Amino acid sequence: MYGLNLVVVLPLVAVAGLLVWRRANTLTWLLFSLIGLWAFFKFGFMVPIPQSVATIYLGITGLALVCYASSSRERLAETVQPIVRLIVEPRYRLALAGLLIALPALAAYNVYADLTAPLEAPGFGREIHPPPPTELTVHDEKLDMATADNPYLHYHEDDPEAYGQHLENGRRVYYENCFWCHGDGMGGDGMFAHGLNPVPSNFNDVGTLPILQSSYVHWRIAKGAPGLPAGGTPWDSAMPAWEKFLTTEEMWDVNLFIYDFNGYQPRALGQH
Ligand code: HEC
Repeated sequence: MYGLNLVVVLPLVAVAGLLVWRRANTLTWLLFSLIGLWAFFKFGFMVPIPQSVATIYLGITGLALVCYASSSRERLAETVQPIVRLIVEPRYRLALAGLLIALPALAAYNVYADLTAPLEAPGFGREIHPPPPTELTVHDEKLDMATADNPYLHYHEDDPEAYGQHLENGRRVYYENCFWCHGDGMGGDGMFAHGLNPVPSNFNDVGTLPILQSSYVHWRIAKGAPGLPAGGTPWDSAMPAWEKFLTTEEMWDVNLFIYDFNGYQPRALGQH
């Protein structure tokens, strides 16, 4: 539900319910609010949220809680009393001793964990041509990636006129949608390219289209960055999933066009 991790959120709500039911005192509520919010930010979302956002929010909430606790003499006394009792009453001596050891130990452990974190640079390796899925479903049509080919490629031999029409349509699709990033001349240097990392693929390059089967290119056009496996770090690439905007025919046509424009042939089926 909305990316919330219910395994964490539901117990937090349950504890809050329990505190209401037991009429917990102000100090318990304050501690629960801080620890609960921390746990909510750290573990409560399926997608991790930035530490800086959590810190700012927790800082502001912490200030608000201090304001609340000190907003009246009675409330302040209510908050402070349990702490004073913990310190002065002999029956809490053991708990106090435990706390006096545990708190510095926790701080020491935090410092130790920070210092012993490995110092090597994080790996940003990105697979440019990650392995495609074995089967592809585009607009409810299933394709076997090993055997699928551009359905209009054969027109090149047996119907040049039909081939020309598909190319023309591919040209239109390209200059309506793709050249912004991949460039007028397909050098990967369109007007948006400067802002993108990774940069758009360069289709002039012999290391791009000629080494790929047309089914691979179809996969990349249809599914874009969101369809990349983990090795391709999908969150980095700006390549859109064109199946949402183009028909299957338009995608095969633009596929045909980018090969033809650069004078390349797709890698033949079964060729390694
Ligand atoms: C918003 C910018 C953007 C637009 C618009 C865009 N692309 Fe891309 N495209 C990228 C980027 C960035 C990459 C390289 C990263 C990646 O592989 O996802 C890429 C990669 C690709 C690849 C993979 C090539 C390879 O080497 O594996 C193909 C094929 C491709 N684009 C085709 C197209 C086609 C066809 C269109 C138009 C219908 C298009 N792109 C429109 C940004 C864009």
